[in-house]
Amino acid sequence: MNHPDTTILLKIVDLPFYRNYFLSLAKSITLSAYKRKMSPEALLQEPKTADYQELCQELFPSEVILVLSQQSKNESVLLKDELSLVTGYSEKRLQEFSTGRWCARNALKQLGHKPVSILKNDKGAPIWPQGFAGSISHCKGMYGAAVANTRRYRSLGFDVEHLQTRSQEKAIVKYICTEKELERLCLLSGKNLIKESRAIFSIKESFYKCLAPLVQKYFGFKYAQVQINWSREEFTLEIVKDITTEFISGMRFNGKAKLINQHVFTGMCLPQT
Ligand SMILES: CC(C)(COP(=O)(O)OP(=O)(O)OC[C@H]1O[C@@H](n2cnc3c(N)ncnc32)[C@H](O)[C@@H]1OP(=O)(O)O)[C@@H](O)C(=O)NCCC(=O)NCCS
Repeated sequence: MNHPDTTILLKIVDLPFYRNYFLSLAKSITLSAYKRKMSPEALLQEPKTADYQELCQELFPSEVILVLSQQSKNESVLLKDELSLVTGYSEKRLQEFSTGRWCARNALKQLGHKPVSILKNDKGAPIWPQGFAGSISHCKGMYGAAVANTRRYRSLGFDVEHLQTRSQEKAIVKYICTEKELERLCLLSGKNLIKESRAIFSIKESFYKCLAPLVQKYFGFKYAQVQINWSREEFTLEIVKDITTEFISGMRFNGKAKLINQHVFTGMCLPQT
């Protein structure tokens, strides 16, 4: 025998209007799950953007605005000048670029800035409006931008990575990790190994996005070494090879790292001195 609440629910679902409503809801969940290569159950269990947004705000001090989106946007959110940058982009790249710009404009809006085009320099870094610094990242199922006023921060680094296993995990780890990092990774296996290696990668990407606009040069993954304290959701990054005369070996930077569901988020900022 059904519980009385279930009996009432079944009666409601049996009404043509509600039956159609539930059917279309189920269809849209199945379609969204299919588009994001997930099972409908996994989609329903996934945190909502507002939950991610709230948890990830802890990546940065309160003056930094972080805007996330799980839904991709198309080029209709781009401004005229930005449209000229996307010629020849694949559909996936266009969605990444558009959603990143949408997040960045929303973050700027929260800091009181009117909508402006965010172009890019010859190295691919976003060109922020005068008086602002920021960082953009996108990966499977997540897009985001962190922006702050340059009165407080010289530069920001933000990165998000999906935990999905890559086919050449070992080769990638060797390419991005120093000997010391590899020694620590050797002690891990399974999900812990993936989580740690993906976080090291993400932290180094955040660091690169934070520093590259200041140093105006490329520097590889072995220029820095990372130590993560997961219980405090913090990391320390140490430069192990001089990058410029200002950013030299031995300098240390702190930042935050968060693992939420299938995504690793990392953030750091360089305060004005
Ligand atoms: C540029 C790079 C950091 C992007 O990181 P990614 O994880 O591949 O991709 P993400 O989605 O997280 O970030 C892409 C965004 O980074 C930003 N970006 C690209 N080049 C950048 C640069 N030189 N400086 C700052 N930000 C840059 C862009 O906003 C880009 O998105 P958009 O093109 O849609 O605007 C990465 O591709 C790279 O070249 N890394 C090698 C250098 C490195 O990481 N060294 C480690 C030093 S310890």
